[in-house]
Amino acid sequence: MFKFDHAKIETNATLLMVLSLIVVSIGGLVEIAPLFYLQNTIEKVEGVRPYSPLELMGRNIYIREGCYLCHSQMIRPFRDEVERYGHYSLAAESMYDHPFQWGSKRTGPDLARVGGRYSDDWHVQHLINPQSVVPESVMPKYSFLMNAEIRVDDIEKHLKANRTVGVPYTDEMIKNAKTDLLAQADPDSDGAEDVTARYPKAQVSNFDGDPKKLTEMDALVAYLQMLGTLVDFKSYRAKDNLR
Ligand code: HEC
Repeated sequence: MFKFDHAKIETNATLLMVLSLIVVSIGGLVEIAPLFYLQNTIEKVEGVRPYSPLELMGRNIYIREGCYLCHSQMIRPFRDEVERYGHYSLAAESMYDHPFQWGSKRTGPDLARVGGRYSDDWHVQHLINPQSVVPESVMPKYSFLMNAEIRVDDIEKHLKANRTVGVPYTDEMIKNAKTDLLAQADPDSDGAEDVTARYPKAQVSNFDGDPKKLTEMDALVAYLQMLGTLVDFKSYRAKDNLR
């Protein structure tokens, strides 16, 4: 029978290293090779869709302003987290995030399910001056977002860039990106229904309370209000027989 001479292996550094490398590369190949053949390693979940143009702009502002330095978007499957924030995060919920916003640094609360928890007005007031609603807050003021008008002309390019990295934006979504961007913040517009048809559950609202201007505040609040709202967890649990 084949037997390893352990004394020889363990007293010869070069031999030990070469054999360890062989073992590690076999393990590595078994884990890594399938990733080149699989189209997707994320379980598809009903309801998850690409961001609407306005939400995508809001997300860009969220990243630009470094909100992720104090806020994570990842609810772990632990009881204390689930009781505080809601159902733990699913991989599918961030499958269209480039880059993702997970994290473990929480100076402020996790925001993965903040959508719908507060009114638009609350968010606007809180972003203008966090201490006016939560006196002990250490969150900085973002009042300038109210005056910063959104750049509308390059929105198609943002959608296209996301499509390049795998987000399934259709030609129709890209063609209508500009009208959708404006319509989602204008409930009276003709295009408002098209936005919800293309992006189910998208909220159409005059987010920042000023109907005359499309501001970065509109976009950021639209983004915050949709976070964690796409998956219907009642049917998700029943279907997959989870808890
Ligand atoms: C210096 C850290 C810090 C930064 C940067 C920061 N926040 Fe916060 N945030 C906090 C803290 C602390 C709280 C809890 C107190 C409060 O509600 O103000 C909070 C609360 C919040 C809440 C309420 C969450 C809840 O469940 O009650 C939202 C929404 C929010 N932040 C959004 C943002 C956005 C959007 C940005 C970027 C534009 C941002 N924050 C940047 C620290 C931060």
